[in-house]
Amino acid sequence: MLPGGSEPLVVLRDVWKVYRMGRVLVPALRGVNLEIPGRVFAAIVGPSGSGKSTMLNLIGGLDKPTRGVVRVAGRDLSRMSSKELALYRRHFVGFVFQQFHLIPRLTALENVEIAMMPRGVPRSARRRKAMELLKLVHIAHRANHRPSELSGGEQQRVAIARALANDPKLLLADEPTGNLDSVTAHKLMHLFRRLVEERGVTVVMVTHNLELIKYCDLVAYMRDGRVVRVEARS
Ligand SMILES: Nc1ncnc2c1ncn2[C@@H]1O[C@H](COP(=O)(O)OP(=O)(O)OP(=O)(O)O)[C@@H](O)[C@H]1O
Ligand SMILES: [Mg+2]
Repeated sequence: MLPGGSEPLVVLRDVWKVYRMGRVLVPALRGVNLEIPGRVFAAIVGPSGSGKSTMLNLIGGLDKPTRGVVRVAGRDLSRMSSKELALYRRHFVGFVFQQFHLIPRLTALENVEIAMMPRGVPRSARRRKAMELLKLVHIAHRANHRPSELSGGEQQRVAIARALANDPKLLLADEPTGNLDSVTAHKLMHLFRRLVEERGVTVVMVTHNLELIKYCDLVAYMRDGRVVRVEARS
């Protein structure tokens, strides 16, 4: 997938997402406009319920907008078929979810490995890469533990390793430091910066922790379903 000309990697234009709860309509996003260039570390901040996770899910092709355009690398996600979206997610995007979504009966190592299966990576290569990624996030010593045998912060690190398994160009992380102590959180920020600088990854992170935005190149502030301010940091 090649970016279209010099367009930013991620472009949202007048994006609406309205959920229907029985007879009630819940507008989670009300006309979001946002541009995120490639190879940056971007943060999305805002109060609970302001639409951060909803927006991240749209960028990641997990959901479609009710109205408006979501373009990533020059491709309009709202026009893709579900098959095309599945390929987009598999080859282009890595997710770290707010609730980690690890598979309970698999070990940490297997949880990372399994992400590589749809791409047909041979077993030994999968295992090697999964171990490398667990090392990268300092959790290799728990490789054979199941999620229920790990702390919240340890599960979060496994989820981050899994998100990196297919070398995503776009890493979407929803509160990735929510369960981490401050030292581990800052280490993770250094890792994200390295991914941006050394591997050209674009990282979009939702966070409540304003202390972490010093690591970011761009900060989008959300309120009531809109991006109300974008701050470029040097
Ligand atoms: N599947 C859904 N069905 C109905 N309403 C939803 C759904 N998902 C989210 N919402 C509503 O949309 C709004 C935005 O939710 P969202 O999860 O995007 O907020 P958020 O900014 O990520 O909040 P938090 O910081 O608490 O995670 C909220 O009012 C929420 O109740
Ligand atoms: Mg959320």
